[in-house]
Amino acid sequence: MKTYRIALLPGDGTGPEVVAEGVKVLKAVSAKYPVKFDFAKYDLGGERYLKTGETLPESILKELEGYDAIYLGAIGHPDVKPGILEGGILLKLRFHFDQYINLRPVKLYPGVDTPLKDKGPGDIDFVIVRENTGGIYTGMGGVMRKGTSEEVATQIMLYTRSGVERCLRYAYDLTRKLGRKKKLTLCHKTNVLTYTGDLWMRAFEEIGSAHYPDVGRDYAHVDATTMWMVKNPEFFDVIVTENMFGDIITDLGAMIQGGMGIAAGGNINPKGLSMFEPIGGSAPKYTGKNVINPLAAIAAAQMMVAYLGEAQAGEAMEGAIVRALGSGKIKSLSAGQMGMGTKEVGDLVASYV
Ligand code: IPM
Ligand code: MN
Repeated sequence: MKTYRIALLPGDGTGPEVVAEGVKVLKAVSAKYPVKFDFAKYDLGGERYLKTGETLPESILKELEGYDAIYLGAIGHPDVKPGILEGGILLKLRFHFDQYINLRPVKLYPGVDTPLKDKGPGDIDFVIVRENTGGIYTGMGGVMRKGTSEEVATQIMLYTRSGVERCLRYAYDLTRKLGRKKKLTLCHKTNVLTYTGDLWMRAFEEIGSAHYPDVGRDYAHVDATTMWMVKNPEFFDVIVTENMFGDIITDLGAMIQGGMGIAAGGNINPKGLSMFEPIGGSAPKYTGKNVINPLAAIAAAQMMVAYLGEAQAGEAMEGAIVRALGSGKIKSLSAGQMGMGTKEVGDLVASYV
Protein backbone atom coordinates (compact mmCIF):
# COMPACT_ATOMS: atom_id res chain seq x y z
CA MET A 1 0.00 0.00 0.00
CA LYS A 2 1.36 3.35 -0.97
CA THR A 3 1.18 6.43 1.26
CA TYR A 4 1.33 9.84 -0.39
CA ARG A 5 2.40 12.96 1.42
CA ILE A 6 0.02 15.76 0.52
CA ALA A 7 0.59 19.41 1.44
CA LEU A 8 -2.73 21.12 2.07
CA LEU A 9 -2.89 24.81 1.29
CA PRO A 10 -6.51 25.69 2.03
CA GLY A 11 -5.77 29.40 1.61
CA ASP A 12 -8.37 32.14 1.74
CA GLY A 13 -12.12 32.61 1.76
CA THR A 14 -14.01 29.45 0.92
CA GLY A 15 -10.74 27.59 0.21
CA PRO A 16 -10.63 25.85 3.61
CA GLU A 17 -14.27 24.74 3.35
CA VAL A 18 -13.86 23.11 -0.04
CA VAL A 19 -10.47 21.56 0.74
CA ALA A 20 -12.04 19.95 3.83
CA GLU A 21 -14.59 18.22 1.58
CA GLY A 22 -11.86 17.09 -0.80
CA VAL A 23 -9.99 15.59 2.12
CA LYS A 24 -13.20 13.91 3.27
CA VAL A 25 -13.55 12.20 -0.11
CA LEU A 26 -9.85 11.24 -0.16
CA LYS A 27 -10.33 9.58 3.22
CA ALA A 28 -13.33 7.69 1.89
CA VAL A 29 -11.12 6.51 -0.98
CA SER A 30 -8.45 5.33 1.47
CA ALA A 31 -11.06 3.29 3.33
CA LYS A 32 -11.86 1.33 0.16
CA TYR A 33 -8.73 1.28 -1.96
CA PRO A 34 -5.12 0.45 -1.18
CA VAL A 35 -3.94 4.03 -1.03
CA LYS A 36 -3.20 6.28 1.95
CA PHE A 37 -2.65 10.00 2.28
CA ASP A 38 -0.66 11.85 4.92
CA PHE A 39 -1.86 15.43 5.08
CA ALA A 40 0.07 18.41 6.40
CA LYS A 41 -1.61 21.79 6.47
CA TYR A 42 0.02 25.17 5.78
CA ASP A 43 -1.70 28.43 6.64
CA LEU A 44 -0.51 30.42 3.61
CA GLY A 45 -2.89 33.13 2.53
CA GLY A 46 -4.32 36.55 3.28
CA GLU A 47 -4.76 36.12 7.02
CA ARG A 48 -1.17 35.10 7.53
CA TYR A 49 0.00 37.94 5.31
CA LEU A 50 -2.04 40.51 7.24
CA LYS A 51 -0.62 39.21 10.53
CA THR A 52 3.01 38.66 9.57
CA GLY A 53 3.63 40.43 6.26
CA GLU A 54 4.77 37.10 4.83
CA THR A 55 3.35 35.55 1.67
CA LEU A 56 5.42 32.42 1.06
CA PRO A 57 8.59 32.13 3.13
CA GLU A 58 11.60 30.35 1.64
CA SER A 59 11.57 27.85 4.49
CA ILE A 60 8.07 26.67 3.54
CA LEU A 61 9.02 26.45 -0.14
CA LYS A 62 11.88 24.16 0.91
CA GLU A 63 9.58 22.03 3.06
CA LEU A 64 7.06 21.68 0.26
CA GLU A 65 9.71 20.04 -1.88
CA GLY A 66 9.29 16.94 0.27
CA TYR A 67 5.67 16.27 -0.69
CA ASP A 68 4.15 14.14 -3.43
CA ALA A 69 1.60 16.79 -4.36
CA ILE A 70 0.08 20.07 -3.24
CA TYR A 71 -3.67 20.45 -2.80
CA LEU A 72 -4.70 24.11 -2.88
CA GLY A 73 -8.02 25.76 -2.03
CA ALA A 74 -8.02 29.41 -3.09
CA ILE A 75 -5.80 32.46 -2.84
CA GLY A 76 -7.19 36.02 -2.64
CA HIS A 77 -8.32 38.22 0.27
CA PRO A 78 -10.59 41.28 0.13
CA ASP A 79 -8.31 43.25 2.51
CA VAL A 80 -5.13 42.63 0.53
CA LYS A 81 -4.33 44.63 -2.59
CA PRO A 82 -4.78 42.52 -5.76
CA GLY A 83 -1.55 40.97 -6.98
CA ILE A 84 0.26 40.52 -3.67
CA LEU A 85 -1.13 37.12 -2.74
CA GLU A 86 -1.63 35.95 -6.32
CA GLY A 87 1.96 36.78 -7.22
CA GLY A 88 3.48 35.99 -3.82
CA ILE A 89 1.83 32.62 -3.31
CA LEU A 90 0.00 31.09 -6.28
CA LEU A 91 2.28 32.24 -9.09
CA LYS A 92 5.36 31.81 -6.92
CA LEU A 93 4.44 28.17 -6.34
CA ARG A 94 3.81 27.60 -10.05
CA PHE A 95 7.15 29.17 -10.96
CA HIS A 96 9.25 27.75 -8.15
CA PHE A 97 8.14 24.19 -8.87
CA ASP A 98 8.29 24.82 -12.62
CA GLN A 99 4.70 23.66 -13.06
CA TYR A 100 4.77 24.56 -16.70
CA ILE A 101 1.48 22.89 -17.59
CA ASN A 102 -1.91 24.02 -16.40
CA LEU A 103 -4.25 21.21 -17.27
CA ARG A 104 -7.91 22.16 -17.33
CA PRO A 105 -10.41 19.57 -18.51
CA VAL A 106 -13.69 20.98 -19.82
CA LYS A 107 -16.15 18.17 -19.35
CA LEU A 108 -19.90 18.49 -18.99
CA TYR A 109 -21.14 15.66 -16.78
CA PRO A 110 -24.63 14.22 -17.21
CA GLY A 111 -27.15 16.01 -15.02
CA VAL A 112 -25.28 19.32 -15.14
CA ASP A 113 -26.75 22.41 -16.78
CA THR A 114 -24.77 24.22 -19.42
CA PRO A 115 -25.69 27.71 -20.65
CA LEU A 116 -25.12 26.44 -24.20
CA LYS A 117 -28.44 25.76 -25.86
CA ASP A 118 -28.82 22.31 -27.44
CA LYS A 119 -25.43 21.08 -26.20
CA GLY A 120 -24.98 18.08 -23.94
CA PRO A 121 -22.28 15.90 -22.37
CA GLY A 122 -21.49 14.37 -25.77
CA ASP A 123 -20.59 17.81 -27.11
CA ILE A 124 -18.58 19.31 -24.27
CA ASP A 125 -15.61 17.12 -23.47
CA PHE A 126 -12.18 18.48 -24.23
CA VAL A 127 -8.99 19.45 -22.44
CA ILE A 128 -7.17 22.76 -22.38
CA VAL A 129 -3.41 22.64 -21.93
CA ARG A 130 -2.43 26.10 -20.76
CA GLU A 131 1.27 26.97 -20.73
CA ASN A 132 1.77 28.00 -17.11
CA THR A 133 5.15 29.65 -16.53
CA GLY A 134 5.77 31.92 -19.48
CA GLY A 135 4.24 34.72 -21.47
CA ILE A 136 3.01 37.84 -19.75
CA TYR A 137 3.06 36.05 -16.40
CA THR A 138 6.85 36.18 -16.11
CA GLY A 139 6.47 39.73 -14.82
CA MET A 140 8.94 41.22 -17.28
CA GLY A 141 8.37 44.81 -18.20
CA GLY A 142 8.35 48.00 -16.25
CA VAL A 143 7.03 51.43 -15.65
CA MET A 144 8.58 54.88 -15.86
CA ARG A 145 7.34 58.34 -14.98
CA LYS A 146 4.72 56.65 -12.86
CA GLY A 147 1.81 58.83 -11.85
CA THR A 148 2.55 61.49 -14.44
CA SER A 149 0.74 62.17 -17.69
CA GLU A 150 3.88 60.84 -19.43
CA GLU A 151 3.69 57.46 -17.74
CA VAL A 152 5.01 54.51 -19.77
CA ALA A 153 4.25 50.90 -18.91
CA THR A 154 5.16 47.61 -20.60
CA GLN A 155 4.38 43.99 -19.84
CA ILE A 156 6.28 41.58 -22.01
CA MET A 157 5.06 38.31 -23.50
CA LEU A 158 8.19 36.23 -23.12
CA TYR A 159 8.65 32.78 -24.65
CA THR A 160 11.66 30.61 -25.36
CA ARG A 161 11.77 27.87 -27.96
CA SER A 162 12.44 25.27 -25.25
CA GLY A 163 9.60 26.56 -23.09
CA VAL A 164 7.18 26.36 -25.99
CA GLU A 165 8.47 22.95 -27.07
CA ARG A 166 8.04 21.23 -23.72
CA CYS A 167 4.47 22.46 -23.48
CA LEU A 168 3.66 21.37 -27.02
CA ARG A 169 5.19 17.94 -26.48
CA TYR A 170 3.10 17.49 -23.36
CA ALA A 171 -0.02 18.44 -25.32
CA TYR A 172 0.82 16.12 -28.22
CA ASP A 173 1.52 13.24 -25.83
CA LEU A 174 -1.74 13.85 -24.03
CA THR A 175 -3.73 13.99 -27.26
CA ARG A 176 -2.20 10.70 -28.34
CA LYS A 177 -2.75 9.10 -24.92
CA LEU A 178 -6.40 10.14 -24.74
CA GLY A 179 -6.80 8.55 -28.16
CA ARG A 180 -10.13 10.18 -28.93
CA LYS A 181 -10.42 12.54 -31.88
CA LYS A 182 -6.63 12.74 -31.84
CA LYS A 183 -6.75 16.38 -32.75
CA LEU A 184 -4.60 19.07 -31.21
CA THR A 185 -5.67 22.67 -31.71
CA LEU A 186 -3.12 25.42 -31.22
CA CYS A 187 -4.83 28.56 -29.95
CA HIS A 188 -2.91 31.80 -30.43
CA LYS A 189 -3.12 35.12 -32.25
CA THR A 190 -0.59 34.73 -35.02
CA ASN A 191 -2.19 37.48 -37.11
CA VAL A 192 -1.10 40.09 -34.56
CA LEU A 193 1.55 38.46 -32.33
CA THR A 194 3.95 37.96 -35.20
CA TYR A 195 6.93 37.08 -32.98
CA THR A 196 5.67 34.83 -30.18
CA GLY A 197 2.76 33.57 -32.26
CA ASP A 198 5.16 32.63 -35.02
CA LEU A 199 7.43 30.87 -32.53
CA TRP A 200 4.50 28.77 -31.28
CA MET A 201 3.24 28.05 -34.78
CA ARG A 202 6.59 26.90 -36.18
CA ALA A 203 7.31 24.73 -33.15
CA PHE A 204 3.79 23.29 -33.34
CA GLU A 205 4.17 22.35 -37.02
CA GLU A 206 7.74 21.07 -36.73
CA ILE A 207 7.23 18.91 -33.66
CA GLY A 208 3.90 17.64 -34.94
CA SER A 209 5.10 16.63 -38.37
CA ALA A 210 8.36 15.11 -37.10
CA HIS A 211 7.15 13.24 -34.01
CA TYR A 212 3.35 13.06 -33.97
CA PRO A 213 2.20 12.29 -37.51
CA ASP A 214 -0.74 10.35 -36.00
CA VAL A 215 -2.10 13.48 -34.26
CA GLY A 216 -4.16 15.89 -36.35
CA ARG A 217 -3.07 19.52 -36.22
CA ASP A 218 -5.47 22.39 -36.15
CA TYR A 219 -5.13 26.09 -35.45
CA ALA A 220 -7.55 28.76 -34.20
CA HIS A 221 -6.97 32.37 -33.24
CA VAL A 222 -7.88 33.02 -29.62
CA ASP A 223 -10.85 35.23 -30.47
CA ALA A 224 -12.20 32.61 -32.83
CA THR A 225 -11.54 29.94 -30.18
CA THR A 226 -13.99 31.64 -27.82
CA MET A 227 -16.53 31.67 -30.63
CA TRP A 228 -16.10 27.96 -31.40
CA MET A 229 -16.18 27.02 -27.73
CA VAL A 230 -19.68 28.44 -27.59
CA LYS A 231 -20.93 27.52 -31.04
CA ASN A 232 -19.26 24.15 -31.66
CA PRO A 233 -17.51 22.85 -28.53
CA GLU A 234 -17.69 19.32 -29.98
CA PHE A 235 -15.10 20.49 -32.46
CA PHE A 236 -12.33 20.26 -29.84
CA ASP A 237 -10.27 17.42 -28.42
CA VAL A 238 -7.18 19.06 -26.90
CA ILE A 239 -6.40 22.77 -27.11
CA VAL A 240 -2.88 23.99 -26.36
CA THR A 241 -2.28 27.66 -25.74
CA GLU A 242 -0.03 30.25 -24.16
CA ASN A 243 -0.50 31.39 -20.58
CA MET A 244 -2.74 34.47 -20.74
CA PHE A 245 -4.96 33.14 -23.52
CA GLY A 246 -5.26 29.94 -21.50
CA ASP A 247 -6.27 31.89 -18.41
CA ILE A 248 -9.08 33.55 -20.33
CA ILE A 249 -10.44 30.64 -22.33
CA THR A 250 -10.43 28.31 -19.32
CA ASP A 251 -12.88 30.59 -17.51
CA LEU A 252 -15.13 30.28 -20.54
CA GLY A 253 -14.50 26.53 -20.44
CA ALA A 254 -15.53 26.44 -16.78
CA MET A 255 -18.80 28.18 -17.59
CA ILE A 256 -19.80 25.80 -20.37
CA GLN A 257 -19.07 22.75 -18.20
CA GLY A 258 -21.42 24.00 -15.50
CA GLY A 259 -19.59 26.83 -13.77
CA MET A 260 -16.89 27.47 -11.19
CA GLY A 261 -18.58 25.01 -8.87
CA ILE A 262 -17.27 22.09 -10.90
CA ALA A 263 -14.14 23.30 -12.74
CA ALA A 264 -10.80 21.88 -11.59
CA GLY A 265 -7.23 22.19 -12.73
CA GLY A 266 -3.77 20.82 -12.23
CA ASN A 267 -0.53 22.80 -12.23
CA ILE A 268 1.79 20.15 -13.50
CA ASN A 269 5.49 19.58 -13.58
CA PRO A 270 5.65 16.18 -15.30
CA LYS A 271 8.92 15.39 -13.52
CA GLY A 272 8.43 17.27 -10.29
CA LEU A 273 5.93 18.51 -7.76
CA SER A 274 2.44 19.26 -9.05
CA MET A 275 -0.39 21.24 -7.50
CA PHE A 276 -4.13 20.75 -7.86
CA GLU A 277 -6.81 23.36 -7.31
CA PRO A 278 -10.40 24.29 -8.04
CA ILE A 279 -10.42 27.09 -10.64
CA GLY A 280 -12.88 29.35 -8.83
CA GLY A 281 -11.47 31.93 -6.46
CA SER A 282 -11.85 32.54 -2.74
CA ALA A 283 -15.47 33.80 -3.02
CA PRO A 284 -15.35 36.05 0.08
CA LYS A 285 -19.07 36.69 0.13
CA TYR A 286 -19.85 32.99 0.56
CA THR A 287 -17.15 32.32 3.15
CA GLY A 288 -18.05 30.37 6.27
CA LYS A 289 -21.68 29.88 5.29
CA ASN A 290 -21.54 26.24 4.18
CA VAL A 291 -22.97 27.28 0.79
CA ILE A 292 -20.01 27.03 -1.57
CA ASN A 293 -19.88 24.11 -3.98
CA PRO A 294 -17.00 21.76 -3.10
CA LEU A 295 -17.28 19.68 -6.29
CA ALA A 296 -14.52 21.59 -8.10
CA ALA A 297 -12.18 20.96 -5.18
CA ILE A 298 -13.22 17.30 -5.08
CA ALA A 299 -12.61 17.06 -8.83
CA ALA A 300 -9.16 18.62 -8.29
CA ALA A 301 -8.44 15.96 -5.67
CA GLN A 302 -9.52 13.36 -8.18
CA MET A 303 -7.10 14.78 -10.78
CA MET A 304 -4.38 14.61 -8.13
CA VAL A 305 -5.05 10.96 -7.35
CA ALA A 306 -5.07 10.04 -11.03
CA TYR A 307 -1.88 12.04 -11.53
CA LEU A 308 -0.18 10.21 -8.65
CA GLY A 309 -0.75 7.03 -10.65
CA GLU A 310 -3.66 5.64 -8.64
CA ALA A 311 -5.88 4.98 -11.64
CA GLN A 312 -8.40 2.78 -9.84
CA ALA A 313 -8.89 5.19 -6.93
CA GLY A 314 -9.10 8.09 -9.37
CA GLU A 315 -11.80 6.35 -11.37
CA ALA A 316 -13.72 5.61 -8.19
CA MET A 317 -13.62 9.30 -7.31
CA GLU A 318 -14.79 10.37 -10.74
CA GLY A 319 -17.53 7.75 -10.58
CA ALA A 320 -18.64 9.13 -7.23
CA ILE A 321 -18.78 12.67 -8.62
CA VAL A 322 -20.80 11.44 -11.61
CA ARG A 323 -23.22 9.54 -9.33
CA ALA A 324 -23.67 12.57 -7.07
CA LEU A 325 -24.40 14.77 -10.09
CA GLY A 326 -26.75 12.22 -11.57
CA SER A 327 -28.59 11.60 -8.29
CA GLY A 328 -30.83 14.61 -8.78
CA LYS A 329 -30.13 15.57 -5.18
CA ILE A 330 -27.96 18.57 -6.00
CA LYS A 331 -30.37 21.21 -7.29
CA SER A 332 -27.82 23.53 -8.89
CA LEU A 333 -24.05 23.81 -8.96
CA SER A 334 -24.15 27.48 -7.94
CA ALA A 335 -23.19 28.59 -4.45
CA GLY A 336 -26.22 28.91 -2.21
CA GLN A 337 -28.52 27.16 -4.67
CA MET A 338 -27.42 23.58 -4.29
CA GLY A 339 -30.38 22.62 -2.11
CA MET A 340 -27.83 21.31 0.38
CA GLY A 341 -24.73 22.59 2.11
CA THR A 342 -21.02 22.34 1.27
CA LYS A 343 -20.55 19.55 3.83
CA GLU A 344 -23.59 17.63 2.62
CA VAL A 345 -22.30 17.63 -0.96
CA GLY A 346 -19.01 16.27 0.38
CA ASP A 347 -20.86 13.60 2.34
CA LEU A 348 -22.85 12.63 -0.74
CA VAL A 349 -19.78 12.19 -2.93
CA ALA A 350 -17.93 10.35 -0.15
CA SER A 351 -20.86 7.95 0.22
CA TYR A 352 -20.66 7.04 -3.48
CA VAL A 353 -16.92 6.28 -3.50
C1 IPM B 1 -6.13 31.19 -12.50
C2 IPM B 1 -6.18 32.53 -11.83
C3 IPM B 1 -4.77 33.04 -11.65
C4 IPM B 1 -4.13 33.18 -13.02
C5 IPM B 1 -4.66 34.37 -10.87
C6 IPM B 1 -5.38 34.29 -9.54
C7 IPM B 1 -3.24 34.81 -10.70
O1 IPM B 1 -6.96 33.41 -12.56
O2 IPM B 1 -5.57 30.25 -11.91
O3 IPM B 1 -6.64 31.06 -13.61
O4 IPM B 1 -4.26 34.22 -13.66
O5 IPM B 1 -3.49 32.23 -13.45
MN1 MN C 1 -7.92 32.52 -14.27
